[in-house]
Amino acid sequence: MRTRALTRVHDGGRDTRRALADVDLVVEEGEFVCVLGPSGSGKSTLLAVIGGLDRGYEGQVELFGEDLGRMSDAALARLRGERIGFVFQHFHLLHHLTVIENVTTPALFDPRADEEASRSRATKLLERLGLADRAFDTPAELSGGQRQRVAIARALLREPRLLLCDEPTGNLDAETGARIIELFEELHREERLTIVAVTHEERLARAATRILRLHEGRVDTKEHAP
Ligand SMILES: Nc1ncnc2c1ncn2[C@@H]1O[C@H](COP(=O)(O)OP(=O)(O)OP(=O)(O)O)[C@@H](O)[C@H]1O
Ligand SMILES: [Mg+2]
Repeated sequence: MRTRALTRVHDGGRDTRRALADVDLVVEEGEFVCVLGPSGSGKSTLLAVIGGLDRGYEGQVELFGEDLGRMSDAALARLRGERIGFVFQHFHLLHHLTVIENVTTPALFDPRADEEASRSRATKLLERLGLADRAFDTPAELSGGQRQRVAIARALLREPRLLLCDEPTGNLDAETGARIIELFEELHREERLTIVAVTHEERLARAATRILRLHEGRVDTKEHAP
């Protein structure tokens, strides 16, 4: 993943806000990067742009060697579905579906996906995340931390190459948070999954191989080892 002079301006009528300003960033395959920065510094915006969800940027974004700006919406949607897992800051679960249905939704859009296989992978992920017994609940019946884990399972369903997470441990108690961090470390180590995670949490940041600090839409040029 690479950005060149990436700028994102939100047009808010009278005041325009520059959520990202001239960001030059390279994330190599297999890196585990944590993004830190105060509220409003552009962290969620950065994830949305590099995840291909927000196309209103200026500058250049390259994903898996392809220039996002040159891709059609359909091609970008396919790339997202096949290679990117996204954990949103507010989870975005579908409330009328059960947990297991939520986790398998990413496979619904792929006609080649095998329903049985998706279901069995979803079940394994739920087990790994300590939610095996909640598969047939709806999100409304879950705690915030449980919902967050459902969102993580969903992001991992298609075995993405790049996992983008916005505060993935934000709602978790210490023990569950530690479990998620372990899972990320394992995926990073064993499957060379590239991870970019926004966080306020010291523990998650310590697990990363690199820390990136955002301040008012700019990347702090001093990069820090964790
Ligand atoms: N859709 C939008 N319309 C207008 N302004 C926006 C929009 N999304 C974000 N912004 C502005 O862009 C800036 C960066 O927002 P962003 O959500 O990326 O911050 P953040 O670092 O994720 O903050 P937090 O830690 O609170 O989640 C903020 O000033 C915000 O008000
Ligand atoms: Mg945010």
